Amino acid sequence: MTTTADAATGDKPDHDPVDLSSLEFWARSTAEREESFAPLRAERPITWHRAAEGVMENPDGPGFWAVVRHEDIGYVSKNPKLFCSGQGVQFMDAPEELLEASQSFLAMDSPRHAKLRKLVGAAFTPKQVRKLEDTISERADGIVRDLLDHGDGDFVQLVCRRLPMAMIYDMMGLPEDQQDALAENADLLVSAADAEVRAAHGVDDPLELMTGALMGLIGPGLEAADDRRNNPRDDLMTNLVQAEVDGERLTDEEIGAFFVLLSVAGNDTTRNTIAHASVALTEFRDQRRRLIDGLDGRLPTAVEEMVRWASPVLTFRRTATEDTELRGQRIAAGDKVVMFYESGNRDTEVFADPLSFDVTRDPNPHQGFGGGGPHFCMGNMLARTQLREIWRRLLTHAPDFEVGEPDRLTSNFVNAVKSLPISLNR
Ligand code: HEM
Repeated sequence: MTTTADAATGDKPDHDPVDLSSLEFWARSTAEREESFAPLRAERPITWHRAAEGVMENPDGPGFWAVVRHEDIGYVSKNPKLFCSGQGVQFMDAPEELLEASQSFLAMDSPRHAKLRKLVGAAFTPKQVRKLEDTISERADGIVRDLLDHGDGDFVQLVCRRLPMAMIYDMMGLPEDQQDALAENADLLVSAADAEVRAAHGVDDPLELMTGALMGLIGPGLEAADDRRNNPRDDLMTNLVQAEVDGERLTDEEIGAFFVLLSVAGNDTTRNTIAHASVALTEFRDQRRRLIDGLDGRLPTAVEEMVRWASPVLTFRRTATEDTELRGQRIAAGDKVVMFYESGNRDTEVFADPLSFDVTRDPNPHQGFGGGGPHFCMGNMLARTQLREIWRRLLTHAPDFEVGEPDRLTSNFVNAVKSLPISLNR
């Protein structure tokens, strides 16, 4: 079998002129990036690129294949034997120890992936999430009341980050007075490529910022785990410390990585969907009117459109396990294959008029939660319910709000908004 090293030296085409590896590309807005993705989808659906810029500069490292069409993203996602996750799922290079400490079953393959996912998966089923609906609804109500009391300000801090943070840490059993700091560290872990974020924290080296954030998550996570060993409760942390996989308890490292994965996955994604949706509802006034006019009936389709529009997770990677082909392009065993969900979500083969935000779009087979297959977002029902409930309150109590220009994070992984001014226009 060919190894990664062989693949790196094997015959590869020239790097595509659209440079998906540069941070400059990821500093652009979705609309600007789409100007590059559209011709790629139409003319060059599988292209070869140099190693990505980001956390660890590795200009001589092996490059990657870019997969930009909806159909191909689905194919790669649903063929885990051919395109595995166990050799890493991040687009950019980062030290092995850091990835191991933070990705848990996201970067594993069957059978261990399925076993670990099952440990907490039961808490995220539609039935379980329906049980949480009242809590989500009360929380959303409180957050919007606080916004109304506070008035204009930064929508990200006042609203977007609060509901996902409260829900994921309540489920894990982490107390309210720790939640803010935990969510901040979860944010920082995916923000290290952004020079402005590093400067704000007085740190030059992205790895230093990531390591600090990781410690800030793992410390309280493991303290909670220790506590649950002696004082079991009805929460996810207790499930983790009591769980056995292949007859063995999880190690502290495994519990720590689990906690980091749930922290990152549970916080940023939903937060950023709320932020991007507010921008869309400010830009597409007719769509806001349609949604408000039929709020209960239209919220479910509107939420799907919000996730498509936001594409809060921009990329995930797989590694080819054997020599294969994608659309006639030879892919060697060991090659990195990166899926660009934002592009899949604007593919005209699947979405009519994809650059319009349409709250009634149905069907809407977006790839915001991934392209299907075993790693499909475990929190999709939780996220959908949170989005429905927060928008129900916002559009009822602040129907005339407007947001200004988003301050966007530079990242090739999350489509994040750092801050966003809101005026309630009451
Ligand atoms: C709008 C919000 C969200 C979006 C857009 C989103 C997106 C994604 C994507 C793209 C993946 C990878 C799918 C793949 O590789 O095929 C994923 C995986 C995952 N998500 Fe979400 N997510 C969201 C909310 C959440 C929430 C609230 C949680 C709760 C903890 C969560 C937990 C997870 C976990 C644990 C995985 C890894 C699943 C696995 O590897 O088996 N996500 N998500």
